[in-house]
Amino acid sequence: MRTISNGMQRRGAVTLFLLLIAGPLLLAQTGAPVKLQIRADQVTARMPPTFHGLMTEEINYAFEGGLYAELIRNRNFKESVPARTNRQNPQQSTPAKETKDLVHWSLVQERGGTGSMMLDTSAPLNAAVPATLKLTISQASGNQQVGVANDGFWGIPVKPNTTYKAMFYAKASGYSGPIILSIVSNDGVAVAATAQVSKIGESWQKYEVSLKTGNVKASAENKFVLSANRPGTVWLGFVSLFPPTYKNRTNGFRQDIMELLAAMKPEFLRFPGGNYLEGNTFATRFNWKKTIGPMEERPGHMNDAWGYWSSDGMGLLEYLGWCEDLNMEPVVGVFAGYSLRGEKVKPGPELDVFIQEALEEIEYVSGDVNTIWGARRAKDGHPAPFKLRYVEVGNEDFADREKGSYDARFTAFYDAIKAKYPNLQVIESAGYSAGLVTTRTPDVYDDHYYRGSDDMAFNANNYDSRPRRSGGRGAGAATTMPKVFVGEWATRVGSPTPNMEAAIADAANMAGLERNADLVIMHCYAPLFVNVNPGAMQWTSDLIGYDTMTAYGSPAYWAQHMFANHHGDSVVNIAVSGLPYREAVQAGRGGRGPGAPGQQQAAPDPNALVPPTPMPRVMPDMFFSATKGSGTVYVKIVNRSAVPQQVQFTVSGLSSISPNGKTITLSAANINDTNSITEPHKLEPVTANVTGLGQEFTRTMPANSITVLELNGK
Ligand code: AHR
Repeated sequence: MRTISNGMQRRGAVTLFLLLIAGPLLLAQTGAPVKLQIRADQVTARMPPTFHGLMTEEINYAFEGGLYAELIRNRNFKESVPARTNRQNPQQSTPAKETKDLVHWSLVQERGGTGSMMLDTSAPLNAAVPATLKLTISQASGNQQVGVANDGFWGIPVKPNTTYKAMFYAKASGYSGPIILSIVSNDGVAVAATAQVSKIGESWQKYEVSLKTGNVKASAENKFVLSANRPGTVWLGFVSLFPPTYKNRTNGFRQDIMELLAAMKPEFLRFPGGNYLEGNTFATRFNWKKTIGPMEERPGHMNDAWGYWSSDGMGLLEYLGWCEDLNMEPVVGVFAGYSLRGEKVKPGPELDVFIQEALEEIEYVSGDVNTIWGARRAKDGHPAPFKLRYVEVGNEDFADREKGSYDARFTAFYDAIKAKYPNLQVIESAGYSAGLVTTRTPDVYDDHYYRGSDDMAFNANNYDSRPRRSGGRGAGAATTMPKVFVGEWATRVGSPTPNMEAAIADAANMAGLERNADLVIMHCYAPLFVNVNPGAMQWTSDLIGYDTMTAYGSPAYWAQHMFANHHGDSVVNIAVSGLPYREAVQAGRGGRGPGAPGQQQAAPDPNALVPPTPMPRVMPDMFFSATKGSGTVYVKIVNRSAVPQQVQFTVSGLSSISPNGKTITLSAANINDTNSITEPHKLEPVTANVTGLGQEFTRTMPANSITVLELNGK
């Protein structure tokens, strides 16, 4: 009988390893029940306080047209034409370029009114908005109108009985009429809401007004129009429109997406990237100082890492506000002097600029109001400092292949951060798996992996055998290995969002993470969001999908939800025997890289750290973990096989166990099943009361399923 054990019982994992390398001859598929022993009195790890979290960056229109609730696209008239990457035929790719086209704005001439619009550099609003929209009304009287319309991010969402807040900067010359604001159907026929500002002054001024819909039909096919009804000239310097936001936060977040996130009970947020942190060049990195303060003073930047414009409405303080709204701890990634196309600086005066910038960022987040940057945060509207424990230096800096480059930069950042903030935990972003040795031993390694489903399952027990004690990595050769943060990971099967096959493999991995919570202290899936509208996706298999009106959780979202909602406070020891196994060949699935829209699988990355191996591999088809807290034991059972599996449970270490408990089960008849905009609730966990539990009992786990079994006992 073969056994795998969790937590501190490492011998079992070795047994599993031997079984795997022994190959198909040893396959144990007897039809006999799998035996699961739960030793509830043997705690192998305390659940870390920030175990399940979120990773985020501006990708797939995550914030622009996504979580950040702003409805006006190109609100400061600076948006550029995005780069278009043609992966099949790279010569046909077009680079991003500055535009004078006023993208997403159009001229409105109604009932005989005539006029024109242009971008006017002679009337800047401020340093961040050097060119403004000049509207010339040549002919307008009676009910004739001339104006400008914004088409929003794939439409302006109209919902019944809803109040929208508009804000704009304007000035006028020779114009004495009102500015009429309205949310109108794209064909111009139906006005869902309207309001007006009766007079516009001759110098720049901010105007704020509310628009309320009545009992209208919900729809996305609308535009936002600002119009005039007399001849003259009006300049618009900035235009913003917000629907109600989550918890009514000013400059806040889309309600339905936040509700999905809140239900996941995330404990931390890793931001602002990802590639988005680094940018393709230094000029296009996430430059946090340009993302704070009044929104009309933020210049925005070309997010060339993912090929579209960012207004930077989602700035540093908004990420922190998001943490506050969901009670998450910030995990802040600081720019480490390296960008995606290889621009970098060596330690010395040039790197010192970025180290100083990082120290100031830390102060902005966590300093009190007596510090320079804490005072600036207070001025920006948030006097209370945010709790900060983790700072990550760069992102995936293993991409910098120059020997010693990251080590030198990491050392300089580490020393400066520790000197000023000795209690901060510094995360190394090059990753243990990359085999890079840094001179300074980090507090935490950030592991990233994107895999196909067999790859994920094959590797799901990896942490069981990861050394806890160091044979010495780095000069400081610690005896205890740094902790692990799995800062990006996903099973990439399904597009735009992962399907059930991916969710099950994710759950297998999460069981492994949870069993090893003495080592793995945090994890977060990536990417978090995808706007499913045409042209919005750069990376397939994203946890939560949405369009202009609807948001939904993928099956992988529900897998995260199940683990994060049922973990208690400690991990307990388990032993498993009689596992079913499968042999699989899975080459060219999963992996890194964007994945072309519409493709089911991402292309394999030739530069992947561990390229997919086209060899048969043997892996278990079931995965387990168990945790406990306040009189409840939570057992996670993942059945990857296409047939139901009987599990014989033996529970020790509890003096009494109630016969009554609960199961929460996510399963699908077909592993290709998934959720979507049109079927957002097709697959969701089902909760059932169960009975017959005790020290020994048998239950059947459905085919293709993830189950949380709640046992009540003391
Ligand atoms: O999650 C998508 C990308 O994958 C991230 O931006 C990057 O860190 C990783 O390579």
